[in-house]
Amino acid sequence: MKQVKPKLIDTHAHLDMGHYDDDREEVIERAMKKSTGFINMGLDLSSSKKSIELAKSYDNVYAGIGFHPHEASKFNSSTLDKFRELSKHKVVKAIGEIGLDYYRDNSPRRKQREAFVAQLELACELELPVSVHNRDSTEDLLRILKSQTEVPAGVVHSFFGDYDLGEEFIDLGLYLGLSGPVTFDGNKRLGETVKELPLERLVLETDSPFLTPAPNRGKRNEPGYVEFVAKELAYLKDISFEVVSETTTRNARRLFDLNEC
Ligand code: NI
Repeated sequence: MKQVKPKLIDTHAHLDMGHYDDDREEVIERAMKKSTGFINMGLDLSSSKKSIELAKSYDNVYAGIGFHPHEASKFNSSTLDKFRELSKHKVVKAIGEIGLDYYRDNSPRRKQREAFVAQLELACELELPVSVHNRDSTEDLLRILKSQTEVPAGVVHSFFGDYDLGEEFIDLGLYLGLSGPVTFDGNKRLGETVKELPLERLVLETDSPFLTPAPNRGKRNEPGYVEFVAKELAYLKDISFEVVSETTTRNARRLFDLNEC
């Protein structure tokens, strides 16, 4: 059967999580009905393996493998070899979710930085893009990225910040991921920033089950809701939904090399 290319791509979701144990298949079918593909990002080793299994089971579902900063204390030198092995699966399209989180501090900051740097280097070695989490850690994140001999391609997940920060990430070669918070009423400043950011450097995300966009804010998120982020972006930029979906999907396909599977 010929695989139909999806119109929208949610470049960051966590459908391996227990939140979907009762209805994972229905959630994925709903996304497919809305012509929405997604990349399932790993949070640790077992989540990364589940990500691959999920991606192998459905068309237009892809996998990221990585250690989230919350889990960084469990990251060790043998993790990299395991990821090298896992990256041989064709559905693996990213090293993610990686990054820093100084808001929750679920792992010691030193461990977070170690895991982040090691995974940035792994991404360069494997020529895979990264999906980067950043919460209350912008200064260290930028310092680390700028001190790398090579910055991998990638996306700043759920970008939050002003135009200058967006530009700084774009200058490093990164894309910016937009998710539910752009639809929140309290985030007018983010909306103003997004209006100015170049569409050619934006991709869409949900971070399912978290960050649910309006009008479903407060409920569990799912990849099919990425259309609400796309609609808000179209509204903010005063352009059509079609231009937003075509451009962000093309950006995602290029960045994550989704064309051949
Ligand atoms: Ni995430």
